[in-house]
Amino acid sequence: MRYSYQIVVPAATYAPWLRDNEFLTLFKQVKKNSLVNFYQAYELWSLVEQLEKVNGDVLEVGVWRGSSSIVMGSKLKQLCSEKHVYACDTFEGVVKSDASRDNFYKGGEHRDTSQAFVAQLVEAAGLTNVTLLKGVFPEETGHCIESRQFSLCHIDVDTYISARQVMDWVWQRLSAGGVIIFNDFGFPMTQGITALVNEYRRDSDKMVIHNLNGNGILVKVKV
Ligand SMILES: C[S@@+](CC[C@H](N)C(=O)[O-])C[C@H]1O[C@@H](n2cnc3c(N)ncnc32)[C@H](O)[C@@H]1O
Repeated sequence: MRYSYQIVVPAATYAPWLRDNEFLTLFKQVKKNSLVNFYQAYELWSLVEQLEKVNGDVLEVGVWRGSSSIVMGSKLKQLCSEKHVYACDTFEGVVKSDASRDNFYKGGEHRDTSQAFVAQLVEAAGLTNVTLLKGVFPEETGHCIESRQFSLCHIDVDTYISARQVMDWVWQRLSAGGVIIFNDFGFPMTQGITALVNEYRRDSDKMVIHNLNGNGILVKVKV
């Protein structure tokens, strides 16, 4: 194993989610179709709100059954925001596994979903601000949104090459002050993503924050 791991239990006990009934109700609804944990979902929910002050839509690559897309779309709806969520997935499972970087994923995992299934959940959540784009990102669907500007990008793709190519595509379209969230940071099964996020620490236009919930957070500090 390339990294050291331990169960981390923070000493601070501040828990704002306990008073956020809208989030608690929403997470109860989406959790059976979620690979994103409660704390990661709450971070998306609260960051969408903070990023109202930064121009640009929301991009998600790695949707699976749609829970994180629905969390972000629901917050935008609550805010009456004009922003949109573009939610991209093969809906046929993980791609671009590289044995030299990815210690667990081989390709094809998480194919137990479909665009139609997620579309139904998005509709049931009452959201008209989430667009699903099916295909390998960026080569098959990037062109549909190539002229958009983004304030937030949630990358939840499990493999190093996929994550790196999403970053390469979105970076020039991310506003200053915009944020990238890497969902797979720090988990033993996605060591390629931990390595990728750590590579960005040396770049002068990026600030990397290690969140103990499993989100690697990257802020664009310069254009
Ligand atoms: C862990 S799941 C996403 C979980 C989801 N965010 C949730 O809320 O539960 C990873 C997804 O990434 C997708 N994926 C991986 N690489 C991709 C790529 N390059 N283009 C499109 N989808 C990709 C897979 O099909 C899979 O559905």
